[in-house]
Amino acid sequence: MIGLFTEAQIKGNLVKNRIVLPPMVCFGWAGEDGLVSEKHRRHYAARAAGGAGIVVVEATCVSQDGRLSMDQLGLWNDAQIPGMKDLADDCLEAGALPLVQIHHAGWKTVFKSTADPKGPSVRPGKKDTGSALNLGEIAGITEAFTTAALRAKNAGFAGVELHGAHGYLLSQFASPLDNHRTDTYGGTLENRLRLHVEIGRSIRAACGADFILSIRIGCNEPDLDGGIAVAKYLEANGFDLLHVSASGHEESQPDVPEAFPFNWIVWGGASIHRAVGIPVIVVNDIRTPERAQWLVENEWADFVAIGKDFLTDARWGEKVRLGEPLISCLHCKKGCSWFSSGDRCPRRTPASE
Ligand SMILES: Cc1cc2nc3c(=O)[nH]c(=O)nc-3n(C[C@H](O)[C@H](O)[C@H](O)COP(=O)(O)O)c2cc1C
Repeated sequence: MIGLFTEAQIKGNLVKNRIVLPPMVCFGWAGEDGLVSEKHRRHYAARAAGGAGIVVVEATCVSQDGRLSMDQLGLWNDAQIPGMKDLADDCLEAGALPLVQIHHAGWKTVFKSTADPKGPSVRPGKKDTGSALNLGEIAGITEAFTTAALRAKNAGFAGVELHGAHGYLLSQFASPLDNHRTDTYGGTLENRLRLHVEIGRSIRAACGADFILSIRIGCNEPDLDGGIAVAKYLEANGFDLLHVSASGHEESQPDVPEAFPFNWIVWGGASIHRAVGIPVIVVNDIRTPERAQWLVENEWADFVAIGKDFLTDARWGEKVRLGEPLISCLHCKKGCSWFSSGDRCPRRTPASE
């Protein structure tokens, strides 16, 4: 029987268990230079040593003008490689497979340049008042994702996860609700995923056949049938691994069968897992080892990601393996304090830095 501690393979890389640390921005820890800080280093090293089979380093921006927050990590210049190399080295040393999520916020960027105080024109369609990206700008975005991925490879990462969920740039392109383009980047599924496929091919050409090409997608793009179609299309176009979360449209949620004891995002991931042949990471409110084990054991997921509970307990995976008590997330009513600064998390312990 497959369980949480059954080894797996991704493109010839051994993964020691089925537990994933999903990407989670550590707000307040990076400066505007997007460099890895000592805090980041301790944070990821602790969770790699704490039993994550795969560590996906937080949303790391491919270009300055695509940042979702001014304290986001970056891979837009070579000076950012050494800090990233420290993170990858620490993961590898602890026996965790290191991936990094590469990201562009699209029209959700907070970046405002002095030359253009309204911010860059990163909009794919007419949804808002901005102008759509032109073809030259789209080519520039492919280039930015590719050089960021190459920097990640040079830093020692086994692969990258494109951030294609949560309503950021790639999700804006994929969504028929957001993408109102009338050219070859809008309309049909193939057109709405053209940028994803171009970026994937370009990364493959730059980083080689062995480099893991993963993508986080929304299961509801715009509904579960749409999410499954996106997943299948990306699988057919060279992606190696899928990490299934939500689109930018939380109002459209798949119905969950009564017998399935998880929320709609997990149901979406599990349904996509059953529809594709490549490995799938399922996430959202899984929380406990018993629930995580159930998903893997019943073949609803290849991998399970444990987010906030891995923030509160840096040794989540090791403690589960050893049967030790966990420090659980309190699911604070006012919202997760990690969104402003993890330093304010009531469950944060010195060991979980
Ligand atoms: C503080 C914080 C930061 C996050 N940052 C990211 C991110 O960088 N990229 C991403 O795709 N999701 C991000 N997420 C979402 C998580 O990866 C995960 O999907 C979510 O927390 C649900 O899983 P959980 O219920 O196990 O915490 C973030 C979540 C939190 C709480």
